[in-house]
Amino acid sequence: VLSRLRLYLGAMWNSCIRRRVVLGVGTMAILGPTGAPAVQPDPAGSLPQAGDLLVHQTHPQAGAVIDPNELAAGTPPVLAWAMEPNSGIVRNHLHFGLIVLLRLSADDLTEAETRFAADGIVAFSAICTHAGCVVSGWRPAESRLFCPCHGSVYDPADGGRVVAGPAPRPLPTLKLRIDDGKLSVASGFSARIGSSTGRTD
Ligand code: FES
Repeated sequence: VLSRLRLYLGAMWNSCIRRRVVLGVGTMAILGPTGAPAVQPDPAGSLPQAGDLLVHQTHPQAGAVIDPNELAAGTPPVLAWAMEPNSGIVRNHLHFGLIVLLRLSADDLTEAETRFAADGIVAFSAICTHAGCVVSGWRPAESRLFCPCHGSVYDPADGGRVVAGPAPRPLPTLKLRIDDGKLSVASGFSARIGSSTGRTD
């Protein structure tokens, strides 16, 4: 009887160990290899990435993919979000991902800015580097971007250089490309986004 009891207890112990191993593997799958909860990336909460398309931010065209042909040189800029091309997910959960986009005469671009532009189209972070307002203003006579909050003025032909106002640094640039007539992001922002005191990425 004693030996049969030992056999029974041994089988119970092995079964218990197996269950713990299986449970452990399952838990790792849920928690991730470090034991911390696995965090799924949020495409809508990411900054623009290489390959993204650009869509209008403002109505009535909000959500429509921006065709480079709709941007004429010298016309006011448009505000845009990046969109993951395969899923169609618009990266609009982060205020800091907002983009200001316009076409300039290719002859007006500095040599440095030409490397970021696609057929005269240039794009920048729309978040003012002074205090984080949206750079939504436009001065057509000078082809300058303008922040309505405290009057910072940026030159889109010259890397978003600060021309006037309290902004401490240029607007970060977004490099663009055009392939088969489609405008897309060639690489992420050239510098930290946002104000010197607010949140940055
Ligand atoms: Fe743009 Fe102050 S937030 S000038």
